[in-house]
Formats: sequence, structure tokens, C-alpha cells
Amino acid sequence: MQIISKIYMLPIWFFGLFGQSKSFKANPIIGSRLLNILGLHILRVVLAHIAAHIRWFFLKPMMDEDEREAYHRDGFVLVPDFIDEETIQAITDKFDAMDVHPRQMVQGNTYTQRILLDDKVLQQSSPLSEVVNDSRLQDRLFYTGAKWHRPLMYIQRIRNGFVDGKKDPQKTMHSDTFHPTMKAWLFLQDVEQKHGPFTYVKGSHRLSLKRLKWEYRRSIQAGNISDGYSEKGSFRADAQDLEEMELAAPKGITVKAGTLVIANTNGFHGRGQANDGESRIEIWAYSRHNPFNILPGFGSKLMANIEQWGLQQFWLYKDRQAAKNISRASWHLIDADEMFLDNDGR
Ligand SMILES: [Fe+2]
Repeated sequence: MQIISKIYMLPIWFFGLFGQSKSFKANPIIGSRLLNILGLHILRVVLAHIAAHIRWFFLKPMMDEDEREAYHRDGFVLVPDFIDEETIQAITDKFDAMDVHPRQMVQGNTYTQRILLDDKVLQQSSPLSEVVNDSRLQDRLFYTGAKWHRPLMYIQRIRNGFVDGKKDPQKTMHSDTFHPTMKAWLFLQDVEQKHGPFTYVKGSHRLSLKRLKWEYRRSIQAGNISDGYSEKGSFRADAQDLEEMELAAPKGITVKAGTLVIANTNGFHGRGQANDGESRIEIWAYSRHNPFNILPGFGSKLMANIEQWGLQQFWLYKDRQAAKNISRASWHLIDADEMFLDNDGR
């Protein structure tokens, strides 16, 4: 019925198959039980993994062998002391004086607060700009993201249990999408268990036969799942699922300030359980390529700027829509104070 009433969408749904589209709910072709029984989802998963491995091959010179090995073995890599305490202090000291416009999303009882690091923001802080533009960082992000294109980068603060609400859905183990994707955290503070550390199921990024079988079964049911995320293409995995795939238990990655963590978020991950009122702050990066493209891109700064501009236009459009409906956009503007004040209000 949905297909008939929206038949004009058919070309968009069809071309979505060849890109990042992942929602079993929004795209009835991706969500087709029959096509998934015939192996559509599995075909997309396998082809996307092959393409990512070809792109990683091209980008090999951008990361040292031991780090590449760790990334492909564990699904994440840790670089301790990537920046020193002085640099962190220099970055955080500037925060109060910067003219920035953070945005916030509320998920369950948790706030995610972000400032997009475009040129306008970076021009206001040379310590921050030096770290963000450091080729030691960018090269690693290019390689791990299998994309020779500057990732979207932010200052991010996660505020746990800051509002009454249900459980934060990002604290359930999940895979972001059906293909390898990269997220990175350069922590500006020590992260202990109470702060809700980034948590990862070691080795869960690997496309084992057991993972493929699990993906196959999930893809057939996906249209009928209603946990709010799996049906949109970000499969949730509980302890039983992980056991079924013979995967390890999730482990929180507690780190010292200045540590860089880069993860393939096709593997199962989430935010760790945190104490209410605790937060963590980090430089955060995010990269997704067309999953079926075997070429990593051209490293163009102009393209990265256009991507940032497009994202900002999208947010403004969502603001206008929300204003019309007398509501607020899911990524709504907040005061800089709300992001930079410490947990105790300092
Ligand atoms: Fe995620």
C-alpha cells in the first residue's frame, strides 16, 4: 500500500540501493522481505566490505603498519598521548572567548552537544586549528575512514543523565550501518567508567560467517522490528546476539586525556553506562563514503567546505520547519555556556 501511494518515490528508492541508504522502513526496496530472503541486504554488505578493502589498500601509506593492523584486528585503534596536557589546556582555555553556536540533540536522558569545526570556528583558536589540521591526525582519519576526504569534525560534549527521560539509545550496542564507517575521539579529559566511555565489542567489525548469518536473519525481520533504530538500518545487538556471533563482551575504553581513539563503527559499539550528571568532552570526527565506490576520493578541501556548508543549510532549514510547527529541531541551537560550563556549573 505504501509503495502504491508513493510510486513517484520509486526511482529514489532504487538509486538508494547504490549509496548509503540503509533504512528498512523508509525504503521499501531495502526493506523488502522477499528481496532480503533472496539476499539483497547480504549482497550490499559483502560488496560494501570489498569496496572498503580496495579503498584501504589505496590509502595504506597514510597510516603506520602497526596501527593499521590493530584497526583491522580489533575494529579500533588507540593512540595514547596524541596531544599533550599543554595543548589540551591551550584549546580549552580559548573556549569561553569563542563566538560559537553549538547544537544539541536529546536522546533519552542524555544531551549530545556539538560545534562544527569549520574555518570560521578554527580561525578563532590557533591551538585547536593546529590539532585539527595536523596531518598526523588527518592522515589517520583518511585511512581509517577509507576515504580521502576531510571528515566532519566537531567539539563534542556528552552530558549523561542531564534530563529526565528514558535510557539513552546510544548506550545499547549497535552497528551504525551496513558498511564500514569511521568515528574518532580525541579526548580532552580523562575518561573513566563513570563518564560513560566509548564502548566496543572487540573484533565485531569483521565479516565472519556468523555475523553474515545474523545480518541475514535481521534483514528479513527488519521491516517489523520497532526498537526505533534497527528498522532504520542501525542494528541493535543484545548480549544474546553477541553470544550467537561468538563475540566478546563489550568493553569500555577508558583513557587518559590526549588519547586518540578511532573506530570502525560497523562493529558493535555504544556509549558506556555513566553516572548521572557526568560528561565527557572531545574533538570528534565522522566519515562515511559511498559504500560501493572503490575510489577513496581526491582529498579536496573545497569539497569538505561544501559538505560543511550543506550541513549548515540543512540545520537552518530544520530550524525554520521547527519554528513553523512551534517545536524545536532535533539538532537545536543552544548557548555556548550550556556546552562549556563544567558539570558543577563552573
Ligand atoms: Fe553509533
